[in-house]
Amino acid sequence: MLREVTGIRYVTPLREGGSVPGVVEADDLGTYVVKFVGAAQGRKALIAEVIAGELGRRLGLRVPELVRFDFDPVIGLGEPDQEIQDLMKASGGLNLGMDFLPGALGFDPLVFEVEPELAGRIIWFDALIGNVDRSWRNPNMLVWHKNVWLIDHGASLIWHHNWKSAAASSDRPYDASDHALARFGPDPAAAAAELAPMVTDELLTEVTALVPDEWLVDEPGFDSPDDVRAAYRELLLARAAGIHQRIRTEQAEKQKQPPPQWLRTWVEGKNAK
Ligand SMILES: Nc1ncnc2c1ncn2[C@@H]1O[C@H](COP(=O)(O)OP(=O)(O)OP(=O)(O)O)[C@@H](O)[C@H]1O
Ligand SMILES: [Mg+2]
Repeated sequence: MLREVTGIRYVTPLREGGSVPGVVEADDLGTYVVKFVGAAQGRKALIAEVIAGELGRRLGLRVPELVRFDFDPVIGLGEPDQEIQDLMKASGGLNLGMDFLPGALGFDPLVFEVEPELAGRIIWFDALIGNVDRSWRNPNMLVWHKNVWLIDHGASLIWHHNWKSAAASSDRPYDASDHALARFGPDPAAAAAELAPMVTDELLTEVTALVPDEWLVDEPGFDSPDDVRAAYRELLLARAAGIHQRIRTEQAEKQKQPPPQWLRTWVEGKNAK
């Protein structure tokens, strides 16, 4: 189970986030970014955060610690914004907390350099979880103590919004041409060779077990939370095996195009000699 903490002081809303997460202090003296269960993005966003975040961590990527966050809306009564009051009132009880990284900077692909190996691993991981939310416009990465940390996986595992078509939609290619790390020379196939063997049934059992039953219990078409967990496992296992073949990057697109005429003439001339 994820560690559990209880909120004791609502500090401030993070208005740059579409779901308006809150910075909240907890009874373990830690400060957390709380993703509220009552936000418009719904419980599925929190499920995606847990599965993707914990999977990424086990693949060696940096993800701030996730916790079960017990939130009592009473602690937020001092917040003047009515919309945020409504959000908090709709979120009493179990929410998701992420360790707040104090002083972290938003990742900027024009300012920070990333090793090609790390870029490849992150792009392959994003392809695995179907994450379209790490573009250069909205990188959802933080730089903290000189390292890149991954945040905001709420929009990943997109197929879980329609389980009936999940297997088919999961077969689609992953377009990485807009990815924040596309310019750092990633080699997703090399990353796949390293990481895909780590994505085993056991690992996915461990990761999906961390999703609270409460968020899985009334998923239409499933008898129990464990049945839903099995569906996530099956899909991610299948993706791990082959997604690297379906990752599109700009570079790959360019390579597919024939070389320009002048180059062909030059090569032909050389070969003729
Ligand atoms: N663990 C963290 N430590 C420090 N700052 C954070 C952390 N998590 C999020 N933030 C800050 O809060 C902002 C919003 O967080 P996040 O992107 O997770 O929210 P969201 O509502 O899912 O946003 P989006 O609009 O991208 O879907 C981030 O861009 C970042 O600036
Ligand atoms: Mg975000």
